[in-house]
Amino acid sequence: MTNAGKVYLVGAGPGHPDLLTIRAAELLKTADVIVYDRLIQDEVLTLCKPTAEKIFMGKPLGKHASRQDEIHYLLVRKAREGKTVVRLKGGDPFLFGRGGEEAEYLAEHGIPFEVVPGVSSCLSAPLSAGIAVTHRDRASSVAIVTGHNADGNDDRLDWCALSKVDTLVVLMGVHNVAHIAQHLMAAGRSADTPAAAVQRAFWPGESVISATLGTIADEVRRAHVEAPATLVIGEVVSLRQKLKGYQQHIGQIFPQAVAPATLVDTSIPVVPLPELIAAGEPGLDALNLEEEICVIPIPCEKETLQ
Ligand SMILES: C[S@@+](CC[C@H](N)C(=O)[O-])C[C@H]1O[C@@H](n2cnc3c(N)ncnc32)[C@H](O)[C@@H]1O
Repeated sequence: MTNAGKVYLVGAGPGHPDLLTIRAAELLKTADVIVYDRLIQDEVLTLCKPTAEKIFMGKPLGKHASRQDEIHYLLVRKAREGKTVVRLKGGDPFLFGRGGEEAEYLAEHGIPFEVVPGVSSCLSAPLSAGIAVTHRDRASSVAIVTGHNADGNDDRLDWCALSKVDTLVVLMGVHNVAHIAQHLMAAGRSADTPAAAVQRAFWPGESVISATLGTIADEVRRAHVEAPATLVIGEVVSLRQKLKGYQQHIGQIFPQAVAPATLVDTSIPVVPLPELIAAGEPGLDALNLEEEICVIPIPCEKETLQ
């Protein structure tokens, strides 16, 4: 390996560019290559230097069987070309973002890397809805889980243990909200427990559904809530009623709305993995892939934050 560059696994935070870390903004200004996901706003990408190569590697639902392998390969290839690469990921790179796998792959291939933390949706989505995940009088414990596998045999969560945690924050759970609620109520959590779904936090069209554990699945279905959305379950959700008329945040003062269609840049060709393997590209290892749901949000009428 000669002239190896470096890869920065960078958390982009919840969306708004003002919520990037200073380190993330500095790296965006100087990187040669930006490899980014779907949950990255155009305003964040405008911080990149004009000559930077911007490569979209988002994963439309059901169409990314080899996408993660392609990302791994791309990061190694660009670094070996001597480039400074920013791998930009929504929220924090090490929370349900497959950043750990990307770091492993880079280490296995001798590529120097740095991980830059970001503001995760697990805290910022509740926050944007006026929900403090802990509260002196109401919650001393928080658990952050994925709801992605809550409907199947692959579910590794201990719902009995989780039902005893004061505040439960569920990412990637909006499609399984009925299963999640059932698991928790079957484990003894009261159906009256306040619950909320926060959709598109810090994005234009942010909205919040407030309900109870017993009704949240119906309310989410009725309002057509789609990913990205974060579920919050626990007494702290009721705090929202007190705060919501007064809380304002940066996500509500966008200069202009970003239409969902503009979130995907399909203009950049991506070489499919089988072709790379056929071409005998080095550094391309077989990996165990785990599906991850992420779809383009559909704006709908709910309690929309203005
Ligand atoms: C693959 S996980 C990535 C999480 C990310 N690494 C983080 O730290 O926020 C994607 C999930 O994060 C949550 N999420 C991400 N952005 C969100 C947003 N703007 N509003 C609400 N939830 C969001 C949703 O649950 C979504 O399905």
